[in-house]
Amino acid sequence: MQNNVLILDFGSQYTQLIARRVRELNIYCEIHPFNKVPKNIESFKAVILSGSPFSVRAENAPHPDLSKIKGHKPLLGVCYGAQYLAHFYGGSVEPSNIREYGRANLSEISENETLLNGFEKDCQVWMSHSDTIAKLPTNGIRLASTKDVANAAYRIDGEETYAIQFHPEVYHTTYGKQLLENFLVNIAKVEQTWTPAAFVDTTVADLKAKTGNDKVVLGLSGGVDSTVAAVLLHKAIGKNLYCIFVNNGLLRKDEYQNVLDQYEHMGLNVKGVDASERFLDALKGISDPELKRKAIGRVFIEVFDDEAHLVQDVHWLAQGTIYPDVIESVSVTGGPSATIKSHHNVGGLPDFMKLKVVEPLRMIFKDEVRRVGKEMGIDAELLGRHPFPGPGLGIRILGDVTAEKIRILQEVDAIFVNGLKKWGLYDKVWQAGAMLLPVNSVGVMGDERTYEKVVALRAVESTDGMTADWVDLPYKFLQETSNHIINRVKGVNRVVYDISSKPPATIEWE
Ligand code: XMP
Repeated sequence: MQNNVLILDFGSQYTQLIARRVRELNIYCEIHPFNKVPKNIESFKAVILSGSPFSVRAENAPHPDLSKIKGHKPLLGVCYGAQYLAHFYGGSVEPSNIREYGRANLSEISENETLLNGFEKDCQVWMSHSDTIAKLPTNGIRLASTKDVANAAYRIDGEETYAIQFHPEVYHTTYGKQLLENFLVNIAKVEQTWTPAAFVDTTVADLKAKTGNDKVVLGLSGGVDSTVAAVLLHKAIGKNLYCIFVNNGLLRKDEYQNVLDQYEHMGLNVKGVDASERFLDALKGISDPELKRKAIGRVFIEVFDDEAHLVQDVHWLAQGTIYPDVIESVSVTGGPSATIKSHHNVGGLPDFMKLKVVEPLRMIFKDEVRRVGKEMGIDAELLGRHPFPGPGLGIRILGDVTAEKIRILQEVDAIFVNGLKKWGLYDKVWQAGAMLLPVNSVGVMGDERTYEKVVALRAVESTDGMTADWVDLPYKFLQETSNHIINRVKGVNRVVYDISSKPPATIEWE
């Protein structure tokens, strides 16, 4: 990849954010662990050192090999990166008297320094550190200070080496994106050619070259990632892509048929397989959430495997894996740890399938997947769909799963989700759904006493599902939704709204 930027990760919680900011500048970048400098380092145009939970003074602090980087190509150290460059190249780092977390202002800013082009005096920056750079490295030139931090930014004379104590990648640093642009575009001369259109062109060409005339199978889920992966492959190899869309009977109401129609409309070579009964049989009598997940996963593999075998001479399995699942992040407790996860829904396919794996989205983030989908003309409604778990309603029915419970939950879920759309709330919510609880409670309808099911509604805000908070939905909306559910869905007489954040709760109830 040309115009490639390397981000060396020292385990900061913000490393992925640096990558996303760089990509927003239409510049391609990759994250690698600090101790695995890529062998083709020559092909990278610039390097960024991330922050870290470590102190450079700690015995086990991460030490990168910068021998082919510092002084050879444009280098920007951020936070830990800045401290590392000071500590090991002739300066010194000491514990701060005042720990700086959060907002600070750049009071002194050198003029005519490309890195800080466009920065206004007293502009806000975001700090998160407890050590401070007491002495600059050899040939260091101070570029900016805050009230408490003398060396908030510096460069090394005679090199294209820059360092900043604050975090340019966070939203709260007013000119953070400007700084990254100054460094990458004006100093390192990286071209801004990484666009969704360019990604589509290069990926389609790569896929063609990689798979040739081979046949590829792909499991579609109705979600954004598998759909975008399928459309990319379809562009590359057309009818040699065999898509399989399994109905596990645990999808949303009418989803199977609607999504299948949509896929066919998009010209995909897709086979719908209605295996609802098989899944229901496998789930019979199982209440334990982990056992339910295992049963659903097992049957999925069996069904998918059967179908894939019906396609003669298939060589490849395509998956919708995205970049956050691939990045090897540095663990806070010591050396880099591989946290590569298999794709949730198609993960763990049996070895005997012996297929080679192709993952067209493995280097892009979720928001980029959506932009790429939009570029290829995929329907905005499909691209904006909330995430939905692979095991579907199976993990939203607490206790054992029966056809009747699925019917009830599908009805409830449809009323809730359609209501969100009608009220213009759907796009403001990251994920929404309903849970069917394994309890009955007493109610009264007309003159009769009822003893029926309780459902819980859940709507959360989040960016990646790792943390989440409940959404403050309007009372009027909740009132209308609750009325509709209780009046229209036979078997439910009580609706509650989940007001727990993650952590400590999770999004799904299971
Ligand atoms: P939790 O419940 O762990 O969920 O807070 C976090 C996010 O992950 C989704 N989820 C899954 N997605 N296959 C998936 O594709 C799964 O097995 C699965 N389990 C949970 C969940 O819906 C939420 O968005």
